[in-house]
Amino acid sequence: MSYFLLIILLPLTSSVEGQKEFPDNFKFGVSSSAYQIEGAWSEDGKGESIWDHLVHNHPEKIRDRSNGDVACDSYHLWHRDVEMLKELGVDTYRFSIAWTRIMPTGIGNQVNPKGVEYYNSLINALLANNITPYVVLYHWDLPQRLQEMGGWINRDTIGRFKEYARFAFETFGDRVKWWTTFNEPVQICRESYEQDAMAPGYDFPGIPCYLCAHNLLLAHAETVQLYRLHYQSSQGGKIGISLSSAWAQPRSDSADDREASEMNLQFIIGWFAHPIFSTNGNYPQIMIDRIGNFSAQQGFAKSRLPTFSADEIRQIKESSDFLGFNTYTSYMVHKLDEQNANIFPQPSFNHDSGVVEYPNTSWPETASSWFRVHPKGIYNLLTWIRREYDNPDVFVTENGYSDHGDMRDTNRVEYFKKYMDAVLDAVGEGCNVKGYFAWSLMDNFEWRGGIVERFGLYYVDFNHPNRTRTRKSSAKFYADVIKKRKIDMELMPEPDDYTPYSAAEAVSTRVKPVIIAAMIVYLYKLIY
Ligand SMILES: *[C@@H]1O[C@H](CO)[C@@H](O)[C@H](O)[C@H]1NC(C)=O
Ligand SMILES: *[C@@H]1O[C@H](CO)[C@@H](O)[C@H](O)[C@H]1NC(C)=O
Ligand SMILES: *[C@@H]1O[C@H](CO)[C@@H](O)[C@H](O)[C@H]1NC(C)=O
Repeated sequence: MSYFLLIILLPLTSSVEGQKEFPDNFKFGVSSSAYQIEGAWSEDGKGESIWDHLVHNHPEKIRDRSNGDVACDSYHLWHRDVEMLKELGVDTYRFSIAWTRIMPTGIGNQVNPKGVEYYNSLINALLANNITPYVVLYHWDLPQRLQEMGGWINRDTIGRFKEYARFAFETFGDRVKWWTTFNEPVQICRESYEQDAMAPGYDFPGIPCYLCAHNLLLAHAETVQLYRLHYQSSQGGKIGISLSSAWAQPRSDSADDREASEMNLQFIIGWFAHPIFSTNGNYPQIMIDRIGNFSAQQGFAKSRLPTFSADEIRQIKESSDFLGFNTYTSYMVHKLDEQNANIFPQPSFNHDSGVVEYPNTSWPETASSWFRVHPKGIYNLLTWIRREYDNPDVFVTENGYSDHGDMRDTNRVEYFKKYMDAVLDAVGEGCNVKGYFAWSLMDNFEWRGGIVERFGLYYVDFNHPNRTRTRKSSAKFYADVIKKRKIDMELMPEPDDYTPYSAAEAVSTRVKPVIIAAMIVYLYKLIY
């Protein structure tokens, strides 16, 4: 009987396991971003960004009043970063260029050679180690000077961005073959202008976020057009954008709750993806209708959602060779109804979208208030993208877990097991997922979460003057996935040994010899 079962089960399990392997051409990477790791915020001619400005002028907005002045000090310690990437065995490293490091004011008349040298060194070291650079042009650190001219609300910023991008293509494009214009436009426009959650930190709902998004989409499309016309054929690279969303889990199976989920995804993903990746282009019709109707009711002369010309719609459509997608979590959703009609200000993005999001307390918590673990979410999102945009090439450009810095980070390992397994489920059903980037290479400055909320595969000792990096369990786990191209559900590696550096200890080791010397002098005097 048992033999009989074994004979039946063996081929079944092995074929299931076989399906669960990552495809041969699947790329593994890790992600980081300039402001979160580089430090050296004003060194060697770097200019001030809106994040430098925010942390210096409003330290109270950061959970632990920390900042990115030094962060992981990657500006000086990038050799060690490359060593870590080799230890992990990644195919590719996704990092961003700090606009203000190569153009201090953000304006193209002034270029900073030291900044250019830094990125050249990093790119060359990656290539020498067979690691593909995957470069993001804009990961939230707008030059402060441009913010003083209105930032992304000012149409002039489109041209400034294009000038910066052109310089990057000219300077690095002989070696960089993967470009991303913007990382997470939703955070850039909604959390920065609509809600005071990101730099520049405005709390002005319902109007500027749509203007920001409009200019950002135009900047993206014009930059891609520039790349395609002048660089793509000679340099042979690809260019895209990284969008982001949580999965919107309907509160129930009711038609209303399912519609709420769809509305949420159209407002968060569709806002940027529909103009670029849909057949017809332009904003999702549901945004045009809802914002148009509410604007009229609210006494606006025209819709708060700006209008694209037919030429602009054509220009933005298909302006991406791939879709980068970041996701971490899910929310429960239902429609804004009469009982909770007044929870959002009018006008506001949330009121326009008409959806209430709330956490599901049965999903495990993390160190970040917005973040609970729900692996099915990433599968649902990849499937939704496949259906909605005719199965584009997708890279999961960020996915990871936050804790308070455990080196034996078993929860992070479990998170990666389940989320990567869910990615494999989506791949198995035909989603064109081409790669996966874990967030993040190492603990870093987590924006408003300071250094309290840690996402690293490597532990970073922020008290140590050398910002020592140590392999956590998750770093060894991820290296194993990359090596075997499948997920070992049983594996829980031990982290490397490390005793965190304490400033008090450092003082006592410096003070001890002084005390001993003083005692010797004292004894000497006593005797003679
Ligand atoms: C209001 O919404 C309807 C569809 O529900 C649409 O046909 C109409 O154009 C919208 N009105 C405005 C002012 O946008
Ligand atoms: C939380 O999610 C579970 C399924 O994952 C569901 O059964 C439950 O109803 C949800 N709870 C709330 C409060 O929505
Ligand atoms: C930091 O690194 C430098 C250079 O490698 C070394 O000389 C120094 O001792 C280190 N500092 C500490 C506190 O370990």
